[in-house]
Amino acid sequence: MVNGMQALPRDEGTAYQMGPAGYRSELVEVGRGTPMGELLRRYWHPVGLSADAMDRPRKVRVLGEDLILFRDGAGKAGLVHARCCHRGTTLYYGKVEGRGLRCCYHGWLFDTQGHCLEQPCEPQGGRFRDKVRQPWYPLEERYGLIFAYMGPPERKPVLPCYECLEVMDEGEFVEADDSSLGGGGPPIIPCNWLQHFENVVDPFHVPVLHAAFSGAQFNMAMAAMPQVTFEMSPRGVVVRSTRKMDDGKTFYRVTEAAIPTLRVVPNPRVAQFARVESIGWVLPIDDTSFRIYVAGRSKQPGDLGRMRSKFNGKFWWDMTEEEHQRHPGDYEAQVGQGAITIHSEEHFAQSDRGILMIRRMLQDQLDALAAGRDPIGVSFDAHAAPVVFEAGNYLREA
Ligand code: FES
Ligand SMILES: [Fe+2]
Repeated sequence: MVNGMQALPRDEGTAYQMGPAGYRSELVEVGRGTPMGELLRRYWHPVGLSADAMDRPRKVRVLGEDLILFRDGAGKAGLVHARCCHRGTTLYYGKVEGRGLRCCYHGWLFDTQGHCLEQPCEPQGGRFRDKVRQPWYPLEERYGLIFAYMGPPERKPVLPCYECLEVMDEGEFVEADDSSLGGGGPPIIPCNWLQHFENVVDPFHVPVLHAAFSGAQFNMAMAAMPQVTFEMSPRGVVVRSTRKMDDGKTFYRVTEAAIPTLRVVPNPRVAQFARVESIGWVLPIDDTSFRIYVAGRSKQPGDLGRMRSKFNGKFWWDMTEEEHQRHPGDYEAQVGQGAITIHSEEHFAQSDRGILMIRRMLQDQLDALAAGRDPIGVSFDAHAAPVVFEAGNYLREA
């Protein structure tokens, strides 16, 4: 009793008592000069389908940088900074010619490596044109994708080969997809890339989000709660899930998240028991959006796209708001974490071990960079053997 009044029981855990919100900027931010931005710039990233580089300039935004992709008359793809190095208009309105990309404003012509070949308003076509260079990035094309290296030139690694995209089974070929397969929604997903990358090592959300909660979105075999082990590999984090099947056999599924952004996830529909058929690269567009490029082995054109999930029989973009609420998928769960999730408000449980592992591995690579070392997964050996993943859907007798 205080002044004749009964003291009220104090409420605990109200939102008023929350601390200030924060996130680990060193893990999520991708701009130039940021720790993760510099780490990501030590690797090759897909920036488009091969078909995206053509004789019409195409806008591409990668790691917070606005770039222009094109293909010159000799068939060589080029990626240059969008702002012309003369007086800054965008090369998006430029014209692709045989030898390169010509700026619309004063006609400076740049080749795929940013060399200025012509300055038509200058005496003698520009006697000092060798003094300027349009900022550019090296490209390589493989698996139907265009890969760019945006890091320090002296640390440029070789573009890796992957066994699962090099060694074909009967009748297979490699095709590429830019629709953010695995993202559960539209091609551009409006949240931080790490929210998606962490999802790759979160097998426990599958029986909940993709089965119990929203109705079986994949395959009934995936609906059971798995036994899971997580392990660090020389490539990233390996997740091994086992599920007992009704016939006494064991469904053994291995997924991998490979540093820096690779999702090595076997077909969630488990169409066949086999090694992983595709690789997805999570491409940070900037801090608050990403997209996914996929290359995979197919037997029929469009097989990759047919992996896309339907929700209650519909594609994501055909659903009403209410249907998104009743049948949420990866898009809703990950975008639902916010543009950049708030790390200071997380509560980790046993089932989150994979996420802690991948964050620790990323932090280890930031530390390696800070100490002047190269991060894992880069090779300077042009004859390095293709990278072999353990990922796949396998059937075991017992
Ligand atoms: S601004 Fe591009 S040529 Fe002048
Ligand atoms: Fe998922």
